[in-house]
Amino acid sequence: MKRLGAGTLTPQQVGETVRLQAWVHRRRDLGGLVFLDLRDRSGVVQAVVEPEDHPQAAADLEPVRAEWVVEVRGTVRRRTEENINPDMATGEVEVVVSEAEVLSPSEVPPFSPDGKVEASEALRLKYRYLDLRSQELQRNLILRDKVTLEILNYFHEHDFLNLETPILTRSTPEGARDYLVPSRVHRGRFYALPQSPQIFKQILMVAGMERYVQIARCFRDEDLRADRQPEFTQVDVELSFPDQEEVYELVEGLFRRVFPLAGIDIETPFPRLTWAEAMARYGSDRPDLRFGLEIQDLSDLLAESAFRGFSQTLADGGVVRAFALPGSTGAAAASRKQLDGWAEIARRHGAMGVLALRRRDGEVQFQVKGVLSDAEEAALVERLELEEGGIALIVAAQEPVACAALGALRLELARHYELVPDGVYKFLWVTDFPLVEWDEDEDRWFSTHHPFTHPDPRDLDKLESDPGAVRSLAYDVVLNGMELGGGSIRIHRSDLQARVFSLLGIDAEEAEQRFGFLLEALRYGAPPHGGIALGLDRLVMVLAGVASIRDVIAFPKTTSATCLMTEAPSPVDPRQLAELGLSLTGKVKDQGGKDSTGEGEG
Ligand code: AMO
Repeated sequence: MKRLGAGTLTPQQVGETVRLQAWVHRRRDLGGLVFLDLRDRSGVVQAVVEPEDHPQAAADLEPVRAEWVVEVRGTVRRRTEENINPDMATGEVEVVVSEAEVLSPSEVPPFSPDGKVEASEALRLKYRYLDLRSQELQRNLILRDKVTLEILNYFHEHDFLNLETPILTRSTPEGARDYLVPSRVHRGRFYALPQSPQIFKQILMVAGMERYVQIARCFRDEDLRADRQPEFTQVDVELSFPDQEEVYELVEGLFRRVFPLAGIDIETPFPRLTWAEAMARYGSDRPDLRFGLEIQDLSDLLAESAFRGFSQTLADGGVVRAFALPGSTGAAAASRKQLDGWAEIARRHGAMGVLALRRRDGEVQFQVKGVLSDAEEAALVERLELEEGGIALIVAAQEPVACAALGALRLELARHYELVPDGVYKFLWVTDFPLVEWDEDEDRWFSTHHPFTHPDPRDLDKLESDPGAVRSLAYDVVLNGMELGGGSIRIHRSDLQARVFSLLGIDAEEAEQRFGFLLEALRYGAPPHGGIALGLDRLVMVLAGVASIRDVIAFPKTTSATCLMTEAPSPVDPRQLAELGLSLTGKVKDQGGKDSTGEGEG
């Protein structure tokens, strides 16, 4: 007899004999009867054991407890009216067990995957296989599977080839540290795990593949957050002879196919903002557009202000910017303590603090008394559209600091005053990123995206004379304040690539040593090309509606990059080290990885 899924039983099968193999989700003993909720991937169904009619089955199931694996045969029966469970997909039926067999016993589990009792995340990660039995995680992984298949089908229909690139490779600069793998055969040499398949996908274009897609595993040794893992998956895409428009259309079309899998309809095309606009209006290169609180520039109104906090900052080349909370929030009544908290956020981003302009009881009140003229006050109220009951937070600082501080405050206040609506999906493209950023500490230019990004042809003449003003052909796709993906049109000529390397302080010799193969490939007829990589884990997070990236990855790492189930990373046998020609220096972490002074060095 064929095995049926526990969650598939319906009233149509009433009277049929069925065979189930499943986990015991719950056991209840009631007045001589035993009720077992049986669970498999398809769902849960109730089985009833009636000892009077089926004494052998009852005896066989006697020792069975939660998480045991059993096989039962029995008849599907309609539940009596009062026993129907509308919360259960199979709630109208039950299986009356006539034969049973234990397939696999279970020790008492440290927590129950039914999610009824809270277990710590550490415990859940250690026993990941138990946690993965929960309906929520199963639902997330099933969705992930659907989304992945849909993505590959979509690209296949658009003439893309699904190709693999190596995992043991050389370092690709994506801005994080590399995970290194020592070579045994070539002592003292190391492979790097790819931070992305960037260089390989470009070389596939040189190789004439024209359109490439890969569900690619990437590795980055960087600080972890709720939407970051050291090992994550990209939907990696590259195409020859593209322009940005083609990439935008391709991604919008993909999202139009994928979001409905989670019951979400989306509107395309997505709005676009240049990086400069995004920074000026939202203080972020990944603005959350689900709410307003747009930042306004007040500099032109305050250049002559008697308040030196404003006029001096402006004279020093800085800006004065602000955003206002609507009157309906009643934020004008914010307490001293709240204001201090917001000032602290601004300070964390390098500003001196924030200054509040309130409008309440028909009056406008600036935090510093007596320094703004009536005309200045009136002009600020008008520019900020400050309403009765509202408050504006003002930051005077150099532009990047003002953007960062106001951007962070904008998010904090939107959360605090509950201005972020649920179930709203606000996509946008952020375009025209700067090609490079100056790093004060290292005293050199760094790529904003990566060194293979094409400078905007309109700015090419400034590449050497004013690099900070050069825009690039890079773009990000952003959803609700999260960067879902990023890409660019690439440099496809070796002379331009050499100029960009030189700008980044990578001299000809180093360029040859690190990227010689790419520079060489670009000399053999490289087509214009470009592409994008989307964070698959982040995409599934949004679709599943979960807040942690760990909830959409079967075997995720902790925020300190460990796997609590396998206890990786782990010490290795000294013989293995010797074989690799490695010895450890400094204090080595203990096995639990807890006291973490000093790092093992190869
Ligand atoms: P980028 O570094 O922007 O671009 O990465 C692309 C997307 O990958 C996701 N992502 C991550 N997801 C989870 N954990 C991480 N640690 C993590 N890091 C990145 C994000 C991000 O938008 N080679 C280029 C792409 C290109 O130019 O085509 C690249 O890797 O969603």
